[in-house]
Amino acid sequence: MQTEAVGVIKLNSFTYEIPTKVYFGQNQLGHLVEELKKFGKKVLLTYGGGSIKKIGLYDTVVKAVKEAGLELYELSGIEPNPRVSSVREGAKICKEEGIDVILAVGGGSVIDCSKFIGAGAKYDGDPWDLSTGDADVIDCLPIVTVLTLSATGSEMNCGGVISNPETCDKIGRMCTPLLPKVSFLDPTLTYTVSPYQTACGSIDIFSHICECYFAPEKDLSMLDGFMEVLLKTVIRYAPVAMKEPDNYEARANLMWASSWALNGFIDGGKTHAWSCHPIEHELSAYYDITHGLGLAIITPRWMKYVLNDKTMPKFVQYGVNVFNIDPAKAPRQIAEEAIRRTEQFFYDTLKVKSTLTEIGIGDENFTIMAKKASRGLANAFVPLKADEVKSILMMCL
Ligand code: NZQ
Ligand code: ZN
Repeated sequence: MQTEAVGVIKLNSFTYEIPTKVYFGQNQLGHLVEELKKFGKKVLLTYGGGSIKKIGLYDTVVKAVKEAGLELYELSGIEPNPRVSSVREGAKICKEEGIDVILAVGGGSVIDCSKFIGAGAKYDGDPWDLSTGDADVIDCLPIVTVLTLSATGSEMNCGGVISNPETCDKIGRMCTPLLPKVSFLDPTLTYTVSPYQTACGSIDIFSHICECYFAPEKDLSMLDGFMEVLLKTVIRYAPVAMKEPDNYEARANLMWASSWALNGFIDGGKTHAWSCHPIEHELSAYYDITHGLGLAIITPRWMKYVLNDKTMPKFVQYGVNVFNIDPAKAPRQIAEEAIRRTEQFFYDTLKVKSTLTEIGIGDENFTIMAKKASRGLANAFVPLKADEVKSILMMCL
């Protein structure tokens, strides 16, 4: 049983290579054109439902690209929880026009979709095969990103999550060729993110850290310390960014935390499966909800479900080091208080809804969702079978 290993120190070997070049801070977009030119002349600009037009970023980017004599093509309307239909459309444009580089301007959805467009452009079959794993991602057009929402870490990782509404599937894959070549991280571009999306993005960052932190084995303590600082960064700055949308310090801290929560650094070679994300992906697959909202509802229930004598030390560490709970208290008291503090942060401070019932989701699909989510959970922090995932979902009602 994996849980028996809690407390056993296992210092994993690992390879760490993230060659994404990051331009962080204000006015860095001045380097956009010089970077794009390195990859060729034909640029496919990809973006979402129009937020980049409202904030003037579209005009800035288009002007710079055109003035530099690059050829510009566009794919707009990429959905939150991006659909495979957008991937297919983008891959078709790339093949027909001989695109050299994809410029993804937006949040995680635009970046994820662009990654699979880039891979689809290099693949002869249906790009959905690349998500299902029926085909390997062996090549991808160069991806350059301009991030407008701090959440997923997609700007500095090789992951991408694509939805197929026809099959009610939402599938994430990590494939090295999908790693962006260059990412522009200007915190001022996130000033217009709504309080709700700021909350959901922050919860996503928080969850990426927890998925790694709650591991069956103890690894390098410096990584635990780093994760605790990242968690405290989100706790400190997410409420500030919601109240003062143009607070640079808050937006900058969240943006860099987003990248470092999921760029491979904190993993340190851990191989256990994530728990809350596979469950949440079923929720967004069936009900198209915001990823961070689903995580907010699931995470505290998952914590309660997996808290037992063997997992207690990790929850105590979390409570003491992240929420400054008095270490002199009894371990169970600390662990339960830590979970309560997590709930308070999500529901009271960040003000996201706390139950599936409130967002109109019932138990009608729980059996199939739990079955799908549990496929990879045999080596999770606490291994979970389908009926156990279903129990966690029932707790979320
Ligand atoms: O579509 P537009 O008009 O751009 O509006 C978006 C969208 O409605 C808006 N937005 C983005 N930047 C904005 C802004 N509004 C105002 N001002 C700005 N500067 O915010 C909404 C949500 O955007 P989206 O890109 O969907 O959010 P997020 O970055 O949270 O991405 C979520 C997707 O990423 C996947 C999720 O499952 C979900 O599909 N994930 C990707 C991961 C990865 N690649 O590693 C890991 C994550 O765990 C996650 O699963
Ligand atoms: Zn996530």
